Amino acid sequence: MKKVVGTFLLAFLGWHVSPAQSTQKMDEFINQLMAKMTVEEKIGQLNLVTGGEATTGTTVSTDVEAKIRNGQIGGIFSMSTPSKIRKTQEIAIKQSRLNIPIIFGMDVIHGYRTVFPIPLGLAATWDMGLIQQSARIAAEEATADGINWAFSPMVDISRDPRWGRISEGAGEDTYLSSKVAEAIVHGFQGDNLAAHNTMMACVKHFALYGAAEAGRDYNSTDMSLHRMYNEYLPPYKAAIDAGAGSIMTSFNDINGVPASANKWLMTDVLRKQWGFKGLVVTDYTAVNELTAHGLGDLQQVSALSLNAGIDMDMVGEGFLTTLKKSLDEGKVKLADIDRACRFVLEAKYKLGLFEDPYRYCNDQRAKSVIGSAANHAKAREIAAKSFVLLKNENQILPLKKTGTVAVIGPLANSGANMPGTWSVSAELEKTASLVEGMKAVLGNKVNILTHLGTNLLEDSTYQKHATMFGRTIVRDPRKEEEIIADAVKIAQQSDVVVAALGESSEMSGESSSRSELDIPKNQQNLLKALLATGKPVVLVLFTGRPLTLTWEDAHVPAILNVWFGGSETGKAVADVLFGDVVPSGKITATFPRNVGQIPIYYAHKNTGRPYGNSGDFEKFKSNYLDVSNSPLYPFGYGLSYTSFAYGEIQLDKNTLDNDGTIQARIDISNTGHYDAEETVQLYIQDLVGSVTRPVKELKGFQKIFLKKGEVRSVKFDIQLKDLKFFNNDLNYVAEPGDFKIYIGPNSRDVKEVSFKLL
Ligand code: BGC
Repeated sequence: MKKVVGTFLLAFLGWHVSPAQSTQKMDEFINQLMAKMTVEEKIGQLNLVTGGEATTGTTVSTDVEAKIRNGQIGGIFSMSTPSKIRKTQEIAIKQSRLNIPIIFGMDVIHGYRTVFPIPLGLAATWDMGLIQQSARIAAEEATADGINWAFSPMVDISRDPRWGRISEGAGEDTYLSSKVAEAIVHGFQGDNLAAHNTMMACVKHFALYGAAEAGRDYNSTDMSLHRMYNEYLPPYKAAIDAGAGSIMTSFNDINGVPASANKWLMTDVLRKQWGFKGLVVTDYTAVNELTAHGLGDLQQVSALSLNAGIDMDMVGEGFLTTLKKSLDEGKVKLADIDRACRFVLEAKYKLGLFEDPYRYCNDQRAKSVIGSAANHAKAREIAAKSFVLLKNENQILPLKKTGTVAVIGPLANSGANMPGTWSVSAELEKTASLVEGMKAVLGNKVNILTHLGTNLLEDSTYQKHATMFGRTIVRDPRKEEEIIADAVKIAQQSDVVVAALGESSEMSGESSSRSELDIPKNQQNLLKALLATGKPVVLVLFTGRPLTLTWEDAHVPAILNVWFGGSETGKAVADVLFGDVVPSGKITATFPRNVGQIPIYYAHKNTGRPYGNSGDFEKFKSNYLDVSNSPLYPFGYGLSYTSFAYGEIQLDKNTLDNDGTIQARIDISNTGHYDAEETVQLYIQDLVGSVTRPVKELKGFQKIFLKKGEVRSVKFDIQLKDLKFFNNDLNYVAEPGDFKIYIGPNSRDVKEVSFKLL
């Protein structure tokens, strides 16, 4: 084995080895290895188990060490530290018959030990460079801790904020989510997957998981091919085209066939249409769950899954325990087991594990890299850029660094809630709370008072479910009015009140769907009482999803949405509240006025009876009797401490031919009093098509920095590729005719101009 390994050392090291040559070397290596493997050993490679640290289901992996020795495990996830991983790897390398190394996975979602904002917050930066850096740092840290496979990026489009996992993706938009997907894959994988500080990305959840009916997690999806191809599938494809080494199936039913048994999706689309050459892994016990979906017993669904094109089975061991029997009974083919085994071995080969199975186990590197000061500084910078200023009446923000500030609310003093959902490697007890972070930044310049204000939720059982995994928030057993009355006394002693309200981190994420999206009623009562003091009140909103803030928008003078900003949330909030950083984040998922408007998204179709957006009810138009069609805050929206003025759009020509480019130019001026960043957004509308087209679609954006008083011309090049879509025959075409270009600071407040595609 060692000799075989040595022969292929060059393939790992040499820039002089061409991709074709290195693929050939890999194939030869794996052919030789597979020739020695029994069927049972091949099936063993398809088994992915947990290392026992963090799991998301009721099934837990058992007898892991014995199974490694028997060649019954291909990968382990949720295990960390170089020493533990080395010890486990040693069992595979020294005690199993063929010494095949194990691949080690982890949910590295928005950072590792150093935690960045939740993905929905990261997307709100609209800064692909920073997003890529956040994934790079996560990979530096995770690989230093022994891990080489990240279950990320999550690229599921969602237009339903009831779905708690909207927090884990980039929001509602196809184009933006595709760009974010690419940035994260590049951040994790770098240029060389076999380097000691890069790791394999795993795109998830394939597919359409974010379109779960009624926003209820794991629920079914039923969607037209037209919508799938145009709106929901492109981000997965973008991640794959960016080189993602693996992909994870989703839990949901798709037009009658759950993803993990869906041959059309996994083989026809993924392998044949898209040419994906990486590893396909299921989600947690997703094979077993095909039984509850109604597709048969474990043997039957395991065979279905393998035959659909799935390579690796996460946790449920349906593959491990039934595939040999199915092979003997002719229900699966050896060729399919071989195919799946090959993809697992290829992933390990590409990661360099055959060359050095311990390359990710270096205690020294773990000590210097994980949670370093530099990483924390980056986390603070990114967090501040993810915050979205939703309202700032009379320029109440930024605050002055003097006087007394009362920080009141259930999120004021809970460090454990700052990292946000899916931060499984965070050190919760070491994470500063909002108040601690603010104190660290402001020192003794500002006197900070604080109070719980009210419980997170009135219902203690609901609060228990909303504060799992150590994300506790203290509970005051007294009556709501008594707690609020105490808080009001504190508020009265201050010059300004910061109300730290909203969701706890576990109110979004997996299995955290909500049917109401208000700030919990008791928190709203606190807010009312704080406003009644007459003190200026700033709502610092914690949330993993768009909330319905209609009341808050009407009554609270300033709202800063800080999502869950990660390890450095507290300091970053202080940076923005006190003006050291000017807010520049913009939401990437529409904030509805009420839950009844959901699904609500900017790139909707016009309908045959479009509503004029007058704000008034229009009989026999597509609208509601009781609420306007417009969202509370549109996609792309976010304020700054400065103001920007947009000029008119100038085109260099009014027609585009197939090979040409139209350049759209617009002058943006910083007309306010702060140097600041602005994200300039380009949208296009196809006015006449063979199928109906959205009222506008994001096709470009640029983040610019303007000093106060500065004017800058921003240019966008528009080409045929920007106008293409999947028509009814699923051909990717651009159709001649009239188009509109919109440019603006968000999807609503845009300038427009027309052109023609010849
Ligand atoms: C989630 C995945 C995650 C996996 C492993 C599942 O429950 O849906 O996103 O990667 O668990 O932790």
